[in-house]
Amino acid sequence: MAHDLFDISGKTALITGGTSGIGAMIAHGLQARGVKVVIAGRKADSLEKASADGLTAIGADLSTPDGCTKLAQDVLEKVDSLDILVNNAGATWGAPVDDFPASAFDKVLDLNVRAPFLLTQALLPALGESATPDDPSRIIMIGSIDGLRVPETPSYSYTASKAAVHQLTRHLAGHLASRNITVNAIAPGPFESRMMRAMLAQRRDDIEAGTPLGRIGRPDDMVGAVVYLTSRAGGYLTGAVIPVDGGISTTR
Ligand SMILES: NC(=O)c1ccc[n+]([C@@H]2O[C@H](COP(=O)([O-])OP(=O)(O)OC[C@H]3O[C@@H](n4cnc5c(N)ncnc54)[C@H](OP(=O)(O)O)[C@@H]3O)[C@@H](O)[C@H]2O)c1
Repeated sequence: MAHDLFDISGKTALITGGTSGIGAMIAHGLQARGVKVVIAGRKADSLEKASADGLTAIGADLSTPDGCTKLAQDVLEKVDSLDILVNNAGATWGAPVDDFPASAFDKVLDLNVRAPFLLTQALLPALGESATPDDPSRIIMIGSIDGLRVPETPSYSYTASKAAVHQLTRHLAGHLASRNITVNAIAPGPFESRMMRAMLAQRRDDIEAGTPLGRIGRPDDMVGAVVYLTSRAGGYLTGAVIPVDGGISTTR
């Protein structure tokens, strides 16, 4: 049957930053399709809410290497196998170029680039164990259109980090294909989230007018891309950076 191509039920996924915004959209979208979903984040109240929604929620601070290793250990204590890793947690920083602090490079690059690498590294044995040539394990990096084109915002370390995430995706994909693990990135355009709350409150109309398809992204737009990438339908794709952005980076 045609829908079997997109069947992901029975798989197990870890989604970092699954307590809010894009990560929560992905977590609930996969859970609704029969995936056992583990999410990670720092804030206790958000974790409790996720638990109440039936997700397995683990407290983790991915800003340090130890935090990444610890999350990998904690996850493997809670699941029998791991098929999908979504490296989604991220942060940004904005300041004028003359005042942009050095610390904002450490903070943003540590979380947005180092953490996805270290978590991937720590979970490779588990991902490799459940991978087969016919059904590879899947890693999805959440990049950004800001890693593809230059935004108006003075978010210098963020744009640099997201371009790095896209290149890291391609690099890992090349090296992990022989282990039957695919690595792809989604580069989202504007989606409702905590990170975007202030900007959407101030400039939603401008943002929508500047998007060729005339609106910001919806949960279904993000979930659809992730279901494709994690199902049999997406098993022959690796090293791709897929813009899910209403045409912002592809047509302008
Ligand atoms: N929304 C957009 O329009 C958009 C566009 C392009 C790309 N993105 C990317 O999408 C991803 C998700 O962002 P979002 O917009 O959905 O933002 P968000 O609503 O702020 O969510 C960020 C998530 O990351 C977690 N997180 C932050 N710092 C963490 C840390 N040190 N350790 C562990 N978890 C941490 C947060 O949970 P806690 O605070 O509880 O830790 C939260 O669950 C990011 O990589 C972002 O760059 C977003």
